Amino acid sequence: MGNILDDLKTMLEFYQALGIEGMHFGPPEPAVEVAVSGDRELLLSELRQEIGDCARCKLSGGRKNIVFGEGKPYAKIMFIGEGPGREEDIQGRPFVGEAGMLLTSLIEKKFEEIKIERSDVYIANIVKCRPPMNRDPEEDEIASCRGFIERQIEIIQPEVIVTLGRIAIQTLFDNPKLKITAVRGRFMEYKGIPVMPTFHPAYLLRNRADKWKTWADMQKVLELLSGHS
Ligand code: URA
Repeated sequence: MGNILDDLKTMLEFYQALGIEGMHFGPPEPAVEVAVSGDRELLLSELRQEIGDCARCKLSGGRKNIVFGEGKPYAKIMFIGEGPGREEDIQGRPFVGEAGMLLTSLIEKKFEEIKIERSDVYIANIVKCRPPMNRDPEEDEIASCRGFIERQIEIIQPEVIVTLGRIAIQTLFDNPKLKITAVRGRFMEYKGIPVMPTFHPAYLLRNRADKWKTWADMQKVLELLSGHS
């Protein structure tokens, strides 16, 4: 019964965030500290230099830009996607296409009460170059790139990681058997950091009825950051 009520509450909050008024659930106290950049910024730029004009895998042949990642070096939340799409490849920035707009709106609606905007989080991908025709990155491509996302996590030390879609969670846990439908919505742990696996926003664009599930997953992240878990 508790679960049904929790789901109902989450759905109502979701629709309220879409602009449907009439329900309010008291916000927890804001718990955001001012982020100060220092060493982490330097370490990230050193890592970017180490990647250089990368030709470690075959994706380098088709890319326009390496999409290293962006955001606050002292971010509390780190989002990890799969790999750049067409728009990201053109702009050299993660999640700036249609899926990116959905991710941005999700972040800004869900974390507004703790004053976290897109520019306050860190967003990166498992592979830094666009796979042709937006296919899944292949094993050798992931193997060439995975060290970089691992270093980004080490440098940023986020309080929580949100993985977007199957490839990100499988790569982080080095387990190709993980099914996103089975693991999403429950915290896992990566080197002591809580990880919330959720759906990829591109999937949500095709399956809009599942959006509220990701909304519910983000609620758990919000509660963790607000100290209500
Ligand atoms: N999909 C991803 O996984 N990452 C991006 O940066 C954009 C789309």
